[in-house]
Amino acid sequence: MRHALALAAKGHAFVEPNPMVGAVVLDSAGQLAGEGWHQKFGGPHAEVFALQAAGERARGGTLVVTLEPCCHHGKTPPCTDAVLKANIARLVVAMADPFPKVAGGGIAILRAAGVEVHVGLCEADALELNAPYLKLLRTGRPWVHAKWAMTLDGKIATRVGDSKWISCEESRRRVHELRGQMDAIIVGRGTVAADDPLLTARPPGARVPVRVVFSASGDLPQRCQLRATACEVPVIVYTANAHKLEGWVADGAEVVAISDNAMSLDAVLADFGRRRFTNVLVEGGAGLLGSLYDEKALDEFHIFIAPKLIGGRDSHSPVAGKGISQMADSLALERVTFEPSGADVYVHGFAPRAQPA
Ligand SMILES: NC(=O)c1ccc[n+]([C@@H]2O[C@H](COP(=O)([O-])OP(=O)(O)OC[C@H]3O[C@@H](n4cnc5c(N)ncnc54)[C@H](OP(=O)(O)O)[C@@H]3O)[C@@H](O)[C@H]2O)c1
Repeated sequence: MRHALALAAKGHAFVEPNPMVGAVVLDSAGQLAGEGWHQKFGGPHAEVFALQAAGERARGGTLVVTLEPCCHHGKTPPCTDAVLKANIARLVVAMADPFPKVAGGGIAILRAAGVEVHVGLCEADALELNAPYLKLLRTGRPWVHAKWAMTLDGKIATRVGDSKWISCEESRRRVHELRGQMDAIIVGRGTVAADDPLLTARPPGARVPVRVVFSASGDLPQRCQLRATACEVPVIVYTANAHKLEGWVADGAEVVAISDNAMSLDAVLADFGRRRFTNVLVEGGAGLLGSLYDEKALDEFHIFIAPKLIGGRDSHSPVAGKGISQMADSLALERVTFEPSGADVYVHGFAPRAQPA
């Protein structure tokens, strides 16, 4: 199962909004006979690749798969048919698939056909691997990643808003790699005004993320890189003042009107869910990250700490918003790793409630 999970992870950024799935076939003597993984959205499922690779050796053997085989006609035929056709004797799955058209149905069909089925091996790892897919299914909201680069004194820009560059080249390369795995890159109006970012993945990755701006006021610059390139890479602006952004629409951006001036973040996240965005990356600034922190809407953190100092009472820190008053209420990241990234340190971790229950 550990090997199947490692195979599944190869599908990251290629399969979403589908889950990552890996599969291994052992022949009747327990020897590895075939393996496979779900390689791209709409493509064949992991079981199909593994069974094809095993061929006749699958007969009377064991199929080990990280997620329950599907039992419905989606973009491909049901995997349960392929499992039965291959005469598999035993099925070991890490977890049932909560996808409504499956939801235990695949397991039930195979059991009814006489296949010996075991569920739950390495379940916690499988839940962790597909946490974004599972969150989107359960809540209709995407998995929200936060990224910022800060100095040793906890600043993301100088007192006049200059932030180019805080992190080193290697850290910026990693951020571009991350962007290429996302469905959307999100910033607030302040960041567009201060940095005029392009927000594309350079070089391109597996996905082309939509570039998203939050601006209740609609007071965005008339000229900026996002607007100038809106026909090439999609741009969506969420605003309470859509009438101010007709020029952006004419230039190819999509403008989504949010009715309340407070810009309900949940309404925007729900809209992302309707678009089947699975992973989104918030790149700041402090105002937007602060609101998301206050709403407990952040799931995963990518923080680059540069050995530099900026100083200044008025220089931005990464997370504004209301914040908390008691340390007991602070968000303590889990599964935290610290890694050198050129001259910087890359801190990666998860919000605790992001842990599967
Ligand atoms: N070092 C880094 O990693 C990094 C990354 C990004 C930015 N920065 C720096 O951060 C600074 C900008 O930060 P900032 O705090 O001024 O701007 P920001 O967070 O980028 O933008 C804040 C704006 O976002 C809009 N917004 C819409 N809905 C919101 C909501 N629910 N909550 C909060 N904001 C919402 C508001 O625009 P309206 O006023 O139109 O309503 C608000 O004024 C710049 O100096 C930039 O260089 C640094």
